[in-house]
Amino acid sequence: MNKLLKYAGLSGLAGLLAALIFTPAALPAEEEAAYVGAEACSSCHEGQYASFMEKSAKAHSWKSLEKMLPKLTEDEKKECYACHTTGYGKPGGFLSLEQTPEKANLSCEACHGPGSLHSESGDPEEIRRRPDVYNCVVFCHNSERVQIFKFKPMLYHGGH
Ligand code: HEC
Ligand code: HEC
Ligand code: HEC
Repeated sequence: MNKLLKYAGLSGLAGLLAALIFTPAALPAEEEAAYVGAEACSSCHEGQYASFMEKSAKAHSWKSLEKMLPKLTEDEKKECYACHTTGYGKPGGFLSLEQTPEKANLSCEACHGPGSLHSESGDPEEIRRRPDVYNCVVFCHNSERVQIFKFKPMLYHGGH
């Protein structure tokens, strides 16, 4: 809730209403799909994958954590995982570096949503084509982080 209010930059009811109005509906497939990691997309989307790996900070998001993790409690680590790994706490998502190394970094799915169904079928109906800035802001690039990192919402930033 706190994050929703921050998103709108408003407080109280006005913030809540704005957040509800701008919340995009999930694709039906998205609710059933699991997270698979960026490499699973590479065989069919070579170009996007190459560009993502080269340019996107998301492809190295685990590295940002590495130095700090030894100093954190288990609960604090989990907080970091929520934004710095692929699908933490969700079906198919990151569990630990040992168990799920392919999901330690953020993937295409941070923007396009969980891709297990689409990766098997190749069906465009089963993947989110247009990521919504709302998701970027609410889930990770929220106002607290914006102040720290001077993030400016740009749809392709960190994409491909
Ligand atoms: C087995 C091959 C295959 C895999 C694996 C695959 N895709 Fe696709 N994808 C396709 C095909 C085919 C299309 C439709 C043609 C096109 O737009 O290139 C498509 C289209 C898309 C689109 C556009 C959807 C639209 O509405 O136009 C996105 C976004 C996408 N894929 C993302 C991903 C992501 C993210 C992954 C990994 C989680 C992934 N794909 C894995 C085959 C695949
Ligand atoms: C930072 C967000 C972001 C990330 C990360 C991202 N994409 Fe995209 N992707 C977009 C946006 C924005 C579009 C364009 C949507 C539109 O307006 O049609 C797009 C479009 C696509 C399309 C449709 C064809 C095209 O190029 O326009 C495919 C396929 C695709 N992405 C695959 C991928 C794959 C595979 C990865 C990971 C290797 C990935 N994306 C990572 C934001 C992202
Ligand atoms: C609400 C989401 C969120 C949480 C929670 C979060 N981060 Fe981040 N973090 C981000 C975003 C977004 C960026 C990148 C901002 C940018 O570059 O615009 C980032 C960047 C970083 C960077 C800087 C990377 C670089 O090289 O510039 C470090 C270090 C970092 N985070 C560590 C952590 C640690 C440690 C935790 C857990 C205590 C954590 N983060 C929790 C969202 C989050």
